[in-house]
Amino acid sequence: MAELNTESTTPTVGVALLGMGTVGREVLRILGEAEQDFTARIDGRLEVRGVAVSDLSKPREGVDPALLTDDALGLVKRDDIDLVIEVIGGIDYPRTIVMAALNAGKSVVTANKALVAAHAMELADAADASGADLFFEAAVAAAIPVVGPLRRSLAGDKVNAVMGILNGTTNFILDAMDKRGASYDVMLAEATELGYAEADPSADVDGYDAASKAAILASLAFHSPVGFDDVHCEGIRNITADDIAAAKAAGCTIKLLGICERLVDEESGDESISARVYPALVPLSHPLATVSESFNAIFVIAEHAGRLMFYGNGAGGAPTASAVLGDVVAAARNVVHGGRAPGMSTYANLPIADFGAVRTRYHVDMTVQDRPGVLAEVASTFAAHGVSIKTVRQEENVDGARLVVITHHATEQALEETVDALMQLEAVKNVRSVIRMEGN
Ligand code: NDP
Ligand code: HSE
Repeated sequence: MAELNTESTTPTVGVALLGMGTVGREVLRILGEAEQDFTARIDGRLEVRGVAVSDLSKPREGVDPALLTDDALGLVKRDDIDLVIEVIGGIDYPRTIVMAALNAGKSVVTANKALVAAHAMELADAADASGADLFFEAAVAAAIPVVGPLRRSLAGDKVNAVMGILNGTTNFILDAMDKRGASYDVMLAEATELGYAEADPSADVDGYDAASKAAILASLAFHSPVGFDDVHCEGIRNITADDIAAAKAAGCTIKLLGICERLVDEESGDESISARVYPALVPLSHPLATVSESFNAIFVIAEHAGRLMFYGNGAGGAPTASAVLGDVVAAARNVVHGGRAPGMSTYANLPIADFGAVRTRYHVDMTVQDRPGVLAEVASTFAAHGVSIKTVRQEENVDGARLVVITHHATEQALEETVDALMQLEAVKNVRSVIRMEGN
C-alpha cells in the first residue's frame, strides 16, 4: 500500500529493483533522470528502497551503496516495498522471489521471458489471489509494445497468427553473416559485448529465448495456456555460409522466426495451436527480410484488425528499460489509485497441435550422383510422399551434383518421411540441409 509523504500529499510507492546488469542499470538511470515526470504520470512518487545484486563487491555507479543487498528475497518481503522489478534472469531463483512478492500482494514487473514462459499460470494465479499486478511487456521483443496490444487492444478481436523475428542476438548474427560474410563466432561475441545476448548465449542461438517469447505470445493471442515445452524449437547453430549463399541464390535471406498459428482442422473445424521457432528462408521482398541488426519485427494477423506489424529495438539495456518502466508506471498507478490490470486469459484452452501436422515450404539441399535418371528418382521420391516440387536447381560440384529442391506446402511429417527415403537412395550422397521457407 502506498504511503503518504508527510511533506506533501503525494503518495510514495516503495520499489525493489532486483538485478543491476544491462537492464537494471538503465532502469535505475532513467528513473533518476526523469523522476519528476514519473511522479506526475503516476500521481505518486517512486522511491527505490533496495537494489539486489549477486556480487556486492562490484563497483556500481549511480546507486547509493546503502541500498545494495545480496538478499533479494529478504528485500521483497520488507514492509516498505510495494512494487518489485525483476531483471535478474534465470528461472528457479526469480520464481521463488516473484512468488513471494505476489503472495504478499506486491505487484511485479519482470523482463524475464524464461520465467514467464515456464511458470505463467502459477504466477498469474498468485497475482489473482492477492490482487497484485503481474506485468511483463519487456519479456517479449524488449522495447516493442506487443504484450500490451495483445492483452488489451486486441481483446475484442480474434487473433489467428503472430509471427516474426523475436530474438535480437540471432538476427544480429544472421544479418552480418548475410551482408558482410561475417563469422558466426565473432558476431556472437559482439552481440554479447553489446548486451543483447542472454547470460548464457546458447539461449539465443539454440532458439530457447525466442521459444519462451513464442510461448508467451501464443498464450496471449489464443487465450490458452502455452508453455515453453509446447514450442517446437530449432536454433541457428547449424546455419552455414553455404546455406546463406543458397538462400541468396533463391532470392531469400535466412531469419530465425517465431511462429504462432491457430490451426483449424478442415473436416471437424476443431482448433489447435502451433507454436514453433526455427531458421527459415524469407524472400527478399518480404518486410521481415529488411529487419537488420538486433531489431525485431512481429506480425499479428487478426480477424477484424487485419494485418498489424510491430517493429523496433528487440534487445539492449535502454530499450528494455523503456518497456520495464512503462509497466512500472501502470503498476504504480494501480498501487496509488487502486485497480488491477487484466490477468491472464486462458478460457479458450486450445490444445497444442502435433508438429508433424504443420504445413510449410522447404528448401532441400542435397548432393547426388551426376548420372542420367537421378533427377527422376529424386522427383518420384518427393511425389511418393505427396510433396509437390516447385523448383529444382542443379549445379556441378567436385562430389557430383548439387541439387536444390524447393517444395510447395507440405506437412512436416511428409517432408521428414521424404528426406528419410531420399537418404536411402543410392543416387543421393547426402542431404546437406533442409530449411523451411516462410513468408510467401
Ligand atoms: P545481466 O546478466 O546483465 O544482469 C543480471 C543482474 O542480476 C546482475 O546485476 C546480477 O548481479 C543480478 N543477479 C544475478 N543473480 C542474482 C541473485 N541471486 N540475487 C540478486 N541479483 C542477482 O542480465 P540482463 O540485464 O541482460 O537481463 C536481465 C533480464 O532481462 C533477463 O531475464 C533477460 O532475459 C531480460 N531481458 C534482457 C534483455 C537484454 O537485451 N539484455 C532484453 C529483454 C529482456 P551482479 O551485477 O552482481 O552480477
Ligand atoms: N537475448 C535477447 C535477444 C534479449 O537477443 O533478443 C531480448 O529479449
